[in-house]
Amino acid sequence: MDIHVERSQQGLIGIIKVPGDKSISHRAVMFGALAEGTTEVTGFLKGEDCLGTIRCMRQLGVEIVEENDKIIVNGKGISGLQEPAAILDVGNSGTTIRLLAGILASLPHAFVLVGDESIAKRPMARVTGPLKMMNAFIDGREFGQYTPLFIRGGNLRGIHYVSPVASAQVKSAILLAGLGAEGVTTVTEPAKSRDHTERMLRAFGVEVNEDDLTVSVAGGQVLKATKVDVPGDISSAAFPLVAGAIVPDSEITLENVGINPTRTGILDVLTAMGADIQITEEATASGEPTASIKVRTSELKGTTISGDLIPRLIDEIPAIAVLATQAHGTTIIKDAQELKVKETNRIDVMVTQLKLLGADIEATEDGMKIVGPVPLKGGVVQSFGDHRIGMSLALCGLIADDTVTIKDAEAINVSYPGFFEHLEQLKQG
Ligand code: S3P
Repeated sequence: MDIHVERSQQGLIGIIKVPGDKSISHRAVMFGALAEGTTEVTGFLKGEDCLGTIRCMRQLGVEIVEENDKIIVNGKGISGLQEPAAILDVGNSGTTIRLLAGILASLPHAFVLVGDESIAKRPMARVTGPLKMMNAFIDGREFGQYTPLFIRGGNLRGIHYVSPVASAQVKSAILLAGLGAEGVTTVTEPAKSRDHTERMLRAFGVEVNEDDLTVSVAGGQVLKATKVDVPGDISSAAFPLVAGAIVPDSEITLENVGINPTRTGILDVLTAMGADIQITEEATASGEPTASIKVRTSELKGTTISGDLIPRLIDEIPAIAVLATQAHGTTIIKDAQELKVKETNRIDVMVTQLKLLGADIEATEDGMKIVGPVPLKGGVVQSFGDHRIGMSLALCGLIADDTVTIKDAEAINVSYPGFFEHLEQLKQG
């Protein structure tokens, strides 16, 4: 589906609530399925990826009921999961396949996991490698480096895994396998990745030990059902935040957004670039900090983004690239090789598509370099089926001198159903 985005004739004004956090929504359904008892989830993201997690958990025999604004998960404990009669299809979702691989690795059944064309290109060895070290039998294309994956789990033993990448999906997969393993399972990361698994496991009554970059769980712990209130996704909030910063005369308030410190790199970068950001209404929901975030248009300057900041904003880099086209000076993004193995190669795709719209942007080995401010022009650009690329390019349309047409824009439903309706609402003021 093509979507046409026109330049905004006036400032973007309004108050919106972005959809629920994708990472937390996946975990709420998975952990609810592993728990004993009934878990109630509010604020769940009804986007393609998380609906895929529900489908997979149902295939494992878990009863999940979707009510209007609630998801009810009737968990039967980890060992209550059943061997599915068909393959498990995760669609476009890296979080589903990697976390599920960890869960299934501890079960004495056979599972086949597949996904779409994008998933088929994404590295799975980062989870299958450590899960094999824990004694799971895993095979697949190129010996389990790529989908389809075959898993026959059971009889796991705890390991201490020192991960070469700061990845919450890797950390979570190993910890979830660890819950069904003998002894203690420990993961050490090179930099802190998002810690939703640790926080939510605690909310489900699991003891999780943390020491700086090292996290451990002891096997055999039972998850107890709870209520999960999912806050708005800061990765989705990033798009209206960038829009408010670059469209002249804007003032946008985003209510109830998750501001977990492992995710707030985008706020640090906006502030460093001179954006006018205000945080109010701070609260806590299900162990996760939340707040309202207000942005007003301001003069922006370039910055350098690197090191430990990268995992705290990895999903926001496509939106930050658009922001940087409107900032005075040079923005350098480095240490971000992980962008190459997301839903698309986000370095290549952002550079080629933003160039089509007139941006001054170059790819580097581990990121990109952007010089601004540059007036953007209209054109036809491709999301390549990547939701965050689609939304980033839509932001360009708000300030370009002519229509920006985004190909395959339906991918945006993966994480932000209602995105274009929100843009329209903000344009109307
Ligand atoms: C996620 C972790 C991140 C992130 C992805 C969601 C998660 O991936 O990019 O969108 O929910 O754990 P990595 O773990 O590969 O960094």
